[in-house]
Formats: sequence, structure tokens, C-alpha cells
Amino acid sequence: MEKTELNGKFIGVEQDANVFVLSKKFTYDGKKAAKLNITALGLYKAEINGVRVGDAYLTPGWTSYNKMLQVQCYTVTDLLRAGENEIALTVAEGWYCGRLVWPDAYRHYGDKPSVCAALQIGNEELVTDESWKASESYIRFSSIYDGETQDFTAERKPLTPCVRAFDKSVLVRQIDEPVRDIERVAVREVLHTPAGELVYDFGQNMAGVVELDLPQMFCGTVACEFAEILVHGNFYRENYRSAKSTAQYTVRGGGIVKPEFTFHGFRYMKLSGIELPAERVTAIVRHTDLTRTGKIETSDKRFNRLIDNVVWGQRDNFVDIPTDCPQRDERLGWTGDINAFCRTAAYNYDIRLFMKKWLADLRNDQGENGEVPHIVPDVLHSTGVSAMWCDAITMIPYTLYEMYGDVSFLADNYEPMKKFLALREKHTQNGLIATGFEYGDWLALDREQLIGESPFGRTDEYFIANTLYFHSLQIAAKTAALLGNEKENAYYTKRSEKLLKDMRKEYFTPSGRFALDTVTGQVLALHFGIAEEKFRARLAKTLNDNVVKHEYRVCTGFTGTPFLLFALADNGYWETAQKVLMNDTYPSWLYEVDMGATTVWERWNSLLPDGTPNPEGMNSYNHYAYGSVMEFVYRRVAGIEATGVGFQSVRIAPVPVEGLNEVRGEYNSIHGKITAGYAKKENKVTYFAHVPPSVQAEIVLPDEGVVATGNGDFSFER
Ligand code: BGC
Repeated sequence: MEKTELNGKFIGVEQDANVFVLSKKFTYDGKKAAKLNITALGLYKAEINGVRVGDAYLTPGWTSYNKMLQVQCYTVTDLLRAGENEIALTVAEGWYCGRLVWPDAYRHYGDKPSVCAALQIGNEELVTDESWKASESYIRFSSIYDGETQDFTAERKPLTPCVRAFDKSVLVRQIDEPVRDIERVAVREVLHTPAGELVYDFGQNMAGVVELDLPQMFCGTVACEFAEILVHGNFYRENYRSAKSTAQYTVRGGGIVKPEFTFHGFRYMKLSGIELPAERVTAIVRHTDLTRTGKIETSDKRFNRLIDNVVWGQRDNFVDIPTDCPQRDERLGWTGDINAFCRTAAYNYDIRLFMKKWLADLRNDQGENGEVPHIVPDVLHSTGVSAMWCDAITMIPYTLYEMYGDVSFLADNYEPMKKFLALREKHTQNGLIATGFEYGDWLALDREQLIGESPFGRTDEYFIANTLYFHSLQIAAKTAALLGNEKENAYYTKRSEKLLKDMRKEYFTPSGRFALDTVTGQVLALHFGIAEEKFRARLAKTLNDNVVKHEYRVCTGFTGTPFLLFALADNGYWETAQKVLMNDTYPSWLYEVDMGATTVWERWNSLLPDGTPNPEGMNSYNHYAYGSVMEFVYRRVAGIEATGVGFQSVRIAPVPVEGLNEVRGEYNSIHGKITAGYAKKENKVTYFAHVPPSVQAEIVLPDEGVVATGNGDFSFER
């Protein structure tokens, strides 16, 4: 993280103002180049002569502000004019001191918002201080969860500026790409619901805002509410829990309006106070502006919808930090969710800078004793050692290293990994983890009763914990070796071998029967190499029988699901893997698609087969964890698999799926674009691949093994 300096004072206002404006007039000679360096404890919008500076939203982003605060820099020469100019900074509470987490939790980082800016013109600087004019804004209220109220008719009373103390040693340059207004989505349908409400359907669940074009003659107040689903044709927003997520505008004379300092997660908008034709209502998708790197296209519309749902789920939850969901009173950086989804995310988009920033947040919020937060930035003050969630400190850096070949992901996080593993060790008894809070196989539907069950799944939580501890120890060993630390490599290698031995003794009988009867238990034992080589075939068969017994339906949770199809496909059960992938009976991936999903749900049963929502309070229609299935499609169906870090070398091994006549995968790696897939026609299959010159490939065809090596264009008909 590049430290930076910023002149100027952090300025807030003495009054209790949720949003306020600071402004200053200055003269400009019409010649010199100008730059604005700025940050806030809260959120800011900067304007010069009434024109917005830059196109970023929700700046300066969300970090653990008191430990790391990003500064943005904009070139603003073009916004200045010779003579008198005015700069205005609107400031809101945002994540800094607005409501976050459960009801009534405010002020996580500080009491009141403030802004600090330096406008550099040639060699001179205009900086924020007590001499700036402060006033109320047309934005009367703004909150991440509750939405925004704008009143263009209200009097904007003067306020009193004041200095807020802040330790500037934590200032860094902006690390990742900004949040922007990325795409405009037109209304698909205007609905008058059975309950008599006016609802606009945008046809896509998304994170963003809605822009209204209010007619010139209009005077009055309009209100927008948001929802992800309709139930019995009616607007339904109970799953937002306490998040009001509204937008309200009072105008005299119309104009274009949209929220500034918030976002909603929605597909539907309910409008009251006016009836607008569809053309005057536009949704705007708002999220971090990442570069797309991967795509999957198939001949099947329904399957393509599933893939789109995964990609949308990523877009909607990459709003400055990787969140669990964009709609309810949560929208937090749950570590387990991004751990499950990270590799899919890295195939889809270049997430290097985005994750670099978030990993810095993770390190900043790690406990002195090595505990890892369950959410990052940690506004829950909930740290621990829980498998999958806290293993984010080892698994995510390693995944990013594998995807991008950048060792700094490991170097930056090695010490935090070590601290975490040392603490993990304290939870062992006789060599195995036996204490500590665990999320288990979160939201698994394997209690053989499809609603109302515990959210933790049925898989033995400490088996999961030990498996991922083993995996994390292996990562630490590999990291130590990569960083040239032989001693620590030897230590972690030895510790992982001992753990594996103890696990085998604990979980397998001498003749090879595995102790756990859950799909997730069996998946993890195979995927992470817990089963001894000589017992693998037997366990794979047990797993296969188990999945068949479940009629190919998915009953695994956050921990088992990312590895489910790999465990089947990589152990001789491709047939079963593809049947699970293509299954559309409840619960399954395509069941969600058939139920009208446009993003991936939090729970397999978020919508029950009768179209009603799962009655549990926790129910989101936009959670990416189960979207990790897309990784399997890239790696095993299209068959684009890295064999060397950063895709320096690859194995291209497309495998046809029944029901998908054509699949084309594409991944723009740091070494160039790799394409692979197949097309079935009558009784023939054409396998194809493109491998860029700097990548070494081996091409593998089903039942044939390696059929070619090298790079360039490949095509085989079979
Ligand atoms: C979140 C998650 C998270 C889980 C952990 C939920 O409230 O939405 O996705 O991982 O809690 O308990």
C-alpha cells in the first residue's frame, strides 16, 4: 500500500447533520494545471462550479478507516475557468458512522463524518480548513442500508464547520478500481400488482440505484422502494429485514434524480407519489469497475442463464468490498463467502487490486492473537478460527497466487497466516482440532428435512475444521518454500503430515470405512487428500452412491459445494457430476433458474417449489457462494486448467456434458487469452482450443489422454 500525504484538515460540522456541504470560492488565472486530492471519513462527492469531479461513487470506499484510509486524486484543470470558481464537497456518513450490521449499530469508526481535501493549482494549494462555508444539502438523509432522501425545496441552513482530529499516517493512495455507475437497465415491464401497487420490473436482480426523470410540471414527493422478488405477484421485501432501502425525492419543477451515497439490491421498484411511463425510469448498476477476463457460453439458454446469474452475483457483490449480499441489513465482507467464490471471481474478472485492498483490510483487522475476522472490514467485532471463514487468510492469497502468479499475495500475507495457524494449533487436543466456534457446512440442506433445519448442516464441524487446517498448513508450507524459508517449510510440512496421520486414524477404520455419511464429509475427504490412496476408490464409490441416493440433488452447504463436482469428476464419477450440474429438480442450480432467478440465491430453498420464500428471516436472492459452480465449468467442462501458476502452463481438457451441445470457455490470463471447448454435431464432437504463444499447453481428450502439446490453435474431431 503506497503511503501518501494530504495537506488540509479533516473538516466536519458542529451540528448533527447526516449530510452536509463544505464549499469555498477561489480565483483561477486560467493557465495552471489543477489536481484535487481528497478523502473522507464517510463518503464524499466533490463538485467544481457545479460539475461532478470524476465518475467514482461511494468514495473513498470502505476500509478499516482508522487503520487505512484511501486518498483519491483527480485531474480537474478542465473544470476550472478563469476568474471566480467554487469547490463544493458534499459529505455523508456512509460506512464510517452510518448504520451497519444489525439495528441500532452506528458509529463503528467514529462519531461524525468529515472530509479532507487539497486542491493543487500550479504550486499553490487550497486546503480544507475552518474557513470553508458549511451548509445543509438537498440530500437530507443518506444511509447505506436505509437509502436516501433528497429535498430540492428545503431551505439549506448554514452550519458551523469544525476540525476533527485524525491521524494522517494511515493515508494511502487509492488501491483498487473505483465504484462507478456501470450500466443502464431499462424497465422490462410496468406492473400494477394485485395489491394495487405500481411496480417497475427491470428483469434483473442487481446492485445499484434508479434514476427518475420527473416531468417539468411536477411538484411534490415521490418514493421508491426496492425488492428482489414478487410473491403471488405482489411486491415483497421482508427479506431486507431492517434495511429500509428507499429513495425519496421532493421537487418543485421536476428533473432527473438519483441517489448519491447509497445503493440497493433489487430487481423490482415500487413507486408512489407519481405514475411515470417506463422511459422515465432507468436502473443504474453501481459496483466496482473491474475488467472482465472470463466467459462461458453454451448452446443451452437455461444453462447460460445460470452462468449469467453467477456473473451478476459477482458484480452485485463487488461493491468496493466482496460482500455476502447487496440488499438486506448486512452487505458485509463475509470471509467464508469470498473464500468459496474467489477462484470463480478471478476467472470472471481481474480482481487483483480489488483483493489486494481487501486483504490489507483483513490484515488490519486480524486480532493480535491471530484470530481472523468473520467479516472484513470487521464491524461485527467477531474474530475467530472457524474453518473456511478464517482459512480465508491462507486460501485466498494462495488462490490469487495460482491465478495470477504474483508471489506478493503470499509474501504480504505469510505472517498473518502464521499467526492464524499458531492459534489454530491451540484448538487441538491430541493433535486434532476439537474446540472453537465453527460454521460447519453453512446452509447445507442435509438434515433430510428441507426447511426449518439448523443452518450448520450435518457434517461433523471438526472434521471440516481439521480438513481445512490440513489444507492451510500445506499452503503455509508451500508459501514458506516459495519465500525461501526452508526451516518453516519443514515445520509446516511435518505438522501437516502429522495431522493427516491423526485424521486418518480418527476418521477411517483400518479397512477403509469412512466415518462420515454426509456428502460434504466425503467430498472433503477426497478433494483434500484426507483419504489414503488405497481407500480412495472405495470412498469415491460411497460418495457416488450417496449422491445418487439424493437423486443428484444438491444438499451441500458453503463449505462442501465448491468442491462437490470436482470430488466426483476427479475420482471417476463424471456421469454423476454432470447429472448434478444439469439437475433441475429441487434443490439444484437449475431449479433456481426455473424459478426465475436472475442471480444465485443464498439458500437452495430460498424460494420453495410453491413460489413462496423460505420463511427463515435470513434469505437473500443474491449471494455468490454457490456460484462457485462456475469454476467447475471453466476448469472441467470447458477444460481450462492451470498447471503452472498464472496459467504459464495449462491443461486443456474439455469434457462434453449431456444436455450441453456446445460449450465455449474463454479466459484472458496474464499470459494472454486462452479459449477451449467443444461442439457436438450428430455423432461427432469437435474439441477446440486456442493457446497464446507464451503459454505451454497439453491438450487432453476424454479417454485418450494427452493428444497434443504446445500452443496455437487446436481442433480435433472425434
Ligand atoms: C451471511 C453469510 C455468512 C453467514 C455466516 C450470513 O448472515 O449472509 O453469507 O457467511 O452469515 O454465518
